[in-house]
Amino acid sequence: MTDVSIEIVSQKELASLVCEELVASIQEVLSTKDRCSLVLSGGRTPGAVYRMLSRPPMVSEIEWDKVDLFWGDERFVAADNDQSNYHLVQETLLSNLQDVKPKVYPVDTSLASANDAAKAYEQTIQQAGYHTDGTGNPPFDIVMLGMGADGHTASLFPGDESVGETARVVVSTREPHQGMDRVSMSPKALFSAPRVFFVLFGENKAPVLKRVLESDESPTNLPARLYTQAEGRVFWFIDQAAAKELSQKEV
Ligand code: 6PG
Repeated sequence: MTDVSIEIVSQKELASLVCEELVASIQEVLSTKDRCSLVLSGGRTPGAVYRMLSRPPMVSEIEWDKVDLFWGDERFVAADNDQSNYHLVQETLLSNLQDVKPKVYPVDTSLASANDAAKAYEQTIQQAGYHTDGTGNPPFDIVMLGMGADGHTASLFPGDESVGETARVVVSTREPHQGMDRVSMSPKALFSAPRVFFVLFGENKAPVLKRVLESDESPTNLPARLYTQAEGRVFWFIDQAAAKELSQKEV
């Protein structure tokens, strides 16, 4: 049975709650390990969290030089493209960090195809010391995820075969509405982590969030339901608007 907790707060409080939990988790990891890996999500939601983490007072709470940053998914666009998740993190987090910086492991989107980038990212991850034995060990320490209004997470989209991927650590996918090529960590890479943070807000996500948390639909239809296969603790950090259709507010 997956260990799940749900925190519902106002949208105004969401970013600071997530930052506090991230700081506590990173500190806890570094109390027993030399380095802490943090897998970042993209989209519009996490920018406020990244900004808050990279500025006082939170910025000095984290030993950034002991942090390894990865991307749970990436759009297959140039790193300076506004659609790029690397660009998002560069603008909201990395550019604010002055002297103490994390090790940064972006997806190489300069390669010929998303599949080439996925294969290269698997090598990057393994050379960084994670998922080196092909069975998901050693896992990442902390994974951040968002959820789309269609129930996708990272770049694992409904109906896509990537949702059932069990061998690879990184896959290439295609965003079904705009047709944009994507690179995504696989379910195993994302959900083998001891801590998975889902962060989302907004009324547009309320109907699908109810299905994700309160139905037993297959993850194939609702990839965010992969949380039920998580090997560690799953934290849902949600605002009141996104939570409005939930019948159970506590887990
Ligand atoms: C991406 C994300 C994706 C995101 C959801 C929610 O690259 O877009 O990784 O999984 O978390 O689409 O996006 P919003 O935060 O923009 O609602």
